[in-house]
Amino acid sequence: MKVTVVGSGVMGHGIAELAAISGNEVWINDVSQEILQQAMEKIKWSLSKLKSSGSLREDVEQVMSRIHPEVSQPEALKDSNFVIEAVKEDLELKRTIFRNAETYASPTAVLATNTSSLPVTEIGAVLRSKERVVGMHFFNPPVLMPLVEVVKGKDSSDEVVKATVDMAKSMGKETIVVKDVPGFFVNRILLRIMEAGCYLVERGKASFQEVDSSAIEELGFPMGVFLLADYTGLDIGYSVWKAVTARGFKAFPCTSTEKLVSQGMLGVKSGAGYYQYPSPGKFARP
Ligand code: 3HC
Repeated sequence: MKVTVVGSGVMGHGIAELAAISGNEVWINDVSQEILQQAMEKIKWSLSKLKSSGSLREDVEQVMSRIHPEVSQPEALKDSNFVIEAVKEDLELKRTIFRNAETYASPTAVLATNTSSLPVTEIGAVLRSKERVVGMHFFNPPVLMPLVEVVKGKDSSDEVVKATVDMAKSMGKETIVVKDVPGFFVNRILLRIMEAGCYLVERGKASFQEVDSSAIEELGFPMGVFLLADYTGLDIGYSVWKAVTARGFKAFPCTSTEKLVSQGMLGVKSGAGYYQYPSPGKFARP
């Protein structure tokens, strides 16, 4: 099957890697060769890690040979059977990509969005084939996180939802089918947890480091909430908060996050956020 992943960032490159591991020919598209090259290097690093931990059956190079970086979007989409969009949270950009997919991909292709905060129904509303648009929400890092939320928009057909569940399962993921409500399922919970952490810090009840330690030591989380926010990208978390609160989900703003984002401190990707990192994009536990 030809799978096209549009967007090669934190989520896109991991999704392309998963699609290739599960045997698909994968076209990964982004706006420049340089960005695509960086994505290919990250995929290679990740595949090597999986190989050395014994969780990759094939050789790294075999999987890599199924991933085709392509800067031309029409070419990447041409005759594709399954399109996964993983670009920034920009409604018009996502709609443009799916309009292109309607033109170039197979007329029966699934048009899946990895949006974490925009309604699937709104993204598909301007298309001729709205029934083919569905949410396929992965978690960071996609290769390691076991769950995919499949979001059924108002117009998504049952066949498209099933094909998306099947695709996620073929990637070794657990799936839940969720309604197209603000934050879907997981981010509604995550926002509440983040809100509780921010509440404690902003009222001077605890430092963010103390909140993180108690999340790990008392609640058994793999990462504290502020480290997770850095890991995911503070700009991403902030844009999720903005999108879901604009659509009626009530959540307190985290003013420390707002401040860090306005200073360009976006977490791991920029080298600093709540914590400091060795260099931009390089994660190390503080
Ligand atoms: N590919 C392959 N291997 C990877 C990898 C990747 N992308 N990322 C990390 N690894 C490897 C590491 O290199 C390390 O290997 P090593 O032992 O040989 O050095 C191994 O995995 C373990 O990693 P770490 O030592 O860095 O740390 P952890 O044991 O804590 O595992 C983690 C990392 C899986 C990310 C874990 O901390 C975790 O589960 N954190 C929570 C992540 C989470 O909740 N994600 C969801 C975010 S919300 C979201 O995405 C929604 C969106 O809409 C906002």
